[in-house]
Amino acid sequence: MNPKTTVLTGITTTGTPHLGNYVGAIKPAITASRDSNVDSYYFLADFHALIKCHEPELVQQSTLEIAATWLALGLDTENATFYRQSDVPEISELTWLLTCHTAKGLMNRAHAYKAAVQENENAGEDPDFGLTMGLFSYPILMAADILMFNAHQVPVGRDQVQHLEMARDIAQRFNHHFGELFVLPEAVTDDNVAVLPGQDGRKMSKSYNNTIPIWLPEKKLRKSIMRIVTNSLEPGEPKDADDSALYSIFAAFADAGGREEMKQAYRDGIAWGEAKQKTFELINAELAPARDAYQDLISHPVQIEEVLREGARKARAYAMPFLDRIRHAIGIRPLA
Ligand code: TRP
Repeated sequence: MNPKTTVLTGITTTGTPHLGNYVGAIKPAITASRDSNVDSYYFLADFHALIKCHEPELVQQSTLEIAATWLALGLDTENATFYRQSDVPEISELTWLLTCHTAKGLMNRAHAYKAAVQENENAGEDPDFGLTMGLFSYPILMAADILMFNAHQVPVGRDQVQHLEMARDIAQRFNHHFGELFVLPEAVTDDNVAVLPGQDGRKMSKSYNNTIPIWLPEKKLRKSIMRIVTNSLEPGEPKDADDSALYSIFAAFADAGGREEMKQAYRDGIAWGEAKQKTFELINAELAPARDAYQDLISHPVQIEEVLREGARKARAYAMPFLDRIRHAIGIRPLA
């Protein structure tokens, strides 16, 4: 057995990555990717993206942008295994094997599915209106992603915790019937990572339309930061950093010294315009070098494709023999 801890997480390839994604998920994962005591798996969940996105061009474009984002920001692809879900056919096969052993009732309880049904009912529609089997059985695909590599720890947002519990349930049931095949995974949610506020002060999220994309060109990034809400306190009037979305965003990028200095500046009545300018400068300094790398990668998709293929090769070296064992255990075996 592998003595190292295996950490795995998937990134659904939809939407444009924003500073909230960067601070909450991407940056900690990239730091973790360099830890040689951990076996880490990061993958582009493009099969999950199909649940929300039915536009071929967009499916491809999002995968390109998200892969380029992680690579530009310094993901260590030597130490970690970085791959695209659809390049590992073993995951799809495992999904079916698990599907045949997953109670439909378990899926009925999934929050995302229930919320969609509720919305239909509220709107007076048929409960299943617009729902696909992809949305319904999404947690089984996610379980296969995780169980395929025997992940111990799965860093996710709070909205995904139920899916982890389902993956454990599915694994437990399978192990019970067919012997100890799967590691039971655990969700890791980080309470220390503050939720980044968006321009309007609510949580930065695509659904609130308050995001600041990571790869805005410098001028647009500045403009976007200038638009963060503040109150009407004048220059010279003391300001409360703990009650300021602008400060929270600053703090997510600053070190301890920088945070202390800025807090003092707030108490001393820094003008909002100046606080915004400083926030812009800090964020820009962190992103500027990677911005060039990102542009370079985006215009050379062949390079990205190569990295992903190599990642899939590594992932499959684990998945293929393991899937053979699983098939054998459930009776999909040679006849002689
Ligand atoms: N469903 C996850 C999300 O939307 C992404 C995801 C897919 C994932 N497969 C995974 C996360 C496996 C962790 C492990 O955020």
